[in-house]
Amino acid sequence: IGGSDMYRQQILDHYKNPRNYGEIEDATFTHVGENPMCGDTIEMDIVLDDDEDTIEHVAFRGDGCAISQASASMLSEKLQGMSVEDLEALDRDDVIDMLGVDISPMRVKCAVLAEKVAQDGAEIYFGEKDLDKTRTEEDD
Ligand code: FES
Ligand code: FES
Repeated sequence: IGGSDMYRQQILDHYKNPRNYGEIEDATFTHVGENPMCGDTIEMDIVLDDDEDTIEHVAFRGDGCAISQASASMLSEKLQGMSVEDLEALDRDDVIDMLGVDISPMRVKCAVLAEKVAQDGAEIYFGEKDLDKTRTEEDD
């Protein structure tokens, strides 16, 4: 992981002490995604408010490299209170900014796995995407 020490420490801390790790039983939606290159997974539970436009709670669990798991942990904090619209507008640059380190092209899929899981989950829940065609399988 390139970049400043402070950000590297932050990533390792999130990896070792993941925030919001676990399960939410009555989540509005749950989605699991896999990095097909390595088989690492992240599963995320998201609770929306009554109007279904704001994220109230997030929990995740997963198995994978430090970047994918730290990214999920950091994203789980960032998403609380965020609108669904803003979630759907997140892109890889937002995730890389959040991580604060240089991400090599090889590791971009690790960095964005959690973001894709959250977005795919929302898009499937709102009927904007077919279950069998998730973005984690697309080559972007
Ligand atoms: Fe190989 Fe992330 S998939 S480094
Ligand atoms: Fe698998 Fe990073 S090596 S997600």
